[in-house]
Order: sequence, then C-alpha cells, then structure tokens
Amino acid sequence: MAEKGMDLNRFILEEERKHPSASGSLSLALMALESAAKIIASHVRMAGLADVLGQAGKVNVQGEEVQKLDELSNTVMLQHLLDSGQFYALASEELNEPVYSHKGKDAKYVIAFDPLDGSSNIDVNVSIGTIFSIHRRIGDSVENFLQEGYKQVAAGYIIYGSSVMFVLTTGNGVNGFTYDPAVGMFLLSHPDIKIPEKGKIYSINEANAHKWTDEGLVRYIDKLKEEGYTSRYIGSMVADVHRTLIKGGMFGYPADRKNKSGKLRLLYEAAPMAYIIKQAGGRSTTGKMDILDVKPEDIHQRVPVFIGSKKEIDQLLEFIS
Ligand code: AHG
Ligand code: MN
Ligand code: MN
Repeated sequence: MAEKGMDLNRFILEEERKHPSASGSLSLALMALESAAKIIASHVRMAGLADVLGQAGKVNVQGEEVQKLDELSNTVMLQHLLDSGQFYALASEELNEPVYSHKGKDAKYVIAFDPLDGSSNIDVNVSIGTIFSIHRRIGDSVENFLQEGYKQVAAGYIIYGSSVMFVLTTGNGVNGFTYDPAVGMFLLSHPDIKIPEKGKIYSINEANAHKWTDEGLVRYIDKLKEEGYTSRYIGSMVADVHRTLIKGGMFGYPADRKNKSGKLRLLYEAAPMAYIIKQAGGRSTTGKMDILDVKPEDIHQRVPVFIGSKKEIDQLLEFIS
C-alpha cells in the first residue's frame, strides 16, 4: 500500500513502474486530469464571486467573460485533455458528439467525462464534482465509447467539497488524495479505500417514490427504515457516491414513469462510479444487471443506478424484479 502523504504525481509514476512495459501514456493522461482538476477547483472556490464580479457587462476584473461553471469546467477539461495528446477522442456530457483530437491521433486512450456533476448545487455552496472514465481506443469512431464499463482502464472523480479530493482507480484498488492548497498538490489521504460491507444510510430521491416503476423498491426502502437506516440525499451524485464509498450503504437513482431509464448517464456517471465502487469491494446494478456489464448503445444513454455496499445491493436485488 502506498504511503499516506505521497503526492498524486509520484503515485501515478510509481504505479507505472509496476508495469515495466507501460509507455507512460496513461500517467501523462492522468496528470492532465490533475491539472484540469486544480483549475476547476480554483474556479469553484470563487463561484460566488465570479457572479458578483461578472455583473458589469458579464466581464470580470481580468477582463474575461464570465462563463457558467459547467461550461467553464467543460472548456478546461477539453483544453487540458486535448493538449496532453494522450487521448484519441473525448466524450463529454456537455457535448452532443465526441471530439477527435488532432494531437492525439495515434493515442491509445479515449475518455468520457461529466465536467461538473451536481451543478444545481453550485449556487447553494454544496459539494459538486468532476467524473471521468478512460477506455483503450479500439477503433476510429464512436465504437470507442460503446465499450462496457468493466473494460475501463481507469476511472475517478474529483469532489469539490469541504476539501477537494481526487479519488482514482486504475484497476488496482481505490486511492483518495486530498488537495493541500498551501503546496498546490493532491496528497494521499485515503490509501486503498474499502467500502464497508454494510452501512446505515440510504440515499435516493424519495420525492419520486410515487413514480417509481418497481413496487419492490418501495418495499425495500421501507425495510431499510424498519432496520433503523437513516437517509441522506445531496442531489450531486459525486457527493452521494463519495459518502457511500466512505460510510457504506446504498445510493440509487431508479427508473420512474417519467424517466424510463432513470436520469443518470451510463458513460459519464454510472459506469465510472460502478467501477470505483467495485474496486473498493462494493457492488452496483441497474436492477437487472451489473452496471459494468451494460454495453452502451448511445453515448448519452441513461441507466437506472443502484450503487453501494455488497450487503445492501444484494438485499435490494431480492426485493426488486
Ligand atoms: P449534472 O449536474 O451533471 O446534470 O447531474 C445531476 C445529477 C446527479 O448529480 C444527481 O445524482 C442527480 O442529478 C439528482 O437528480 P434529482 O434532482 O432528480 O434528484
Ligand atoms: Mn452529472
Ligand atoms: Mn454535469
């Protein structure tokens, strides 16, 4: 296990050294993500001010146009990831079509990302995040993004919360790095994260319960209440999943009468989070199958999501059809 305090760059390089045949491309790719994360984090911290400073003709004190934070995060991600030259193509929740990188035309990887998750929480100062999922390039066009989640090479998220954290898996466990603003580095604070076998919290938007299409889900949530569980729901997947990863329990966004496949997107939200949770010893399902086994048919496809401790997800599957 890596030592607490190790900085993310060194961690990435030491991981690379474990694979003597590695070209270094994934390391450079992850470092580009780290840089983008630092820049987005600094903008998120200023979110309240950007608005104030932007009031005069939407131009801030630096003379730059004030952008909405999710557009800005998307732009920062695109710039850094394209510039790294390590990605053949990029897919963003904010863009209709994948972007093909000129600099990365011989690159080995493709990346899908949600530049800013939980954006309805920006204005109320509640945790938000960036989620990413990396696959190997397998072809020339969209098929690169239509690969199952279990084929991910790396996945992670950055949570902009009471502290900023970078949570990463490259298929060899999960590690969490907390940003130290004094030195400008992400330092290993949560080595080899394991989700508890069982938790005491469920996290689901219960206001939708009357629309849920699976009766069993209502009975399951009732059962959790009887067993003394408590409820927490932030409305930023990244924050709800992060809490679930650390404390255990269950996070869900089910299908309902309005959202027949739920709300969360397979490529940018469900698959990377499912991979992280699995690497931490947890489980995830759409209700019908493991999220990691779903073969995407469309880059913006949505899926029902249930993610969490093994115990809760096993029990859930006994209730739902
Ligand atoms: P995004 O901000 O990237 O569009 O994602 C919002 C998502 C997700 O973060 C969260 O779990 C969910 O929307 C909350 O939806 P409800 O408000 O319907 O509960
Ligand atoms: Mn999102
Ligand atoms: Mn988003």
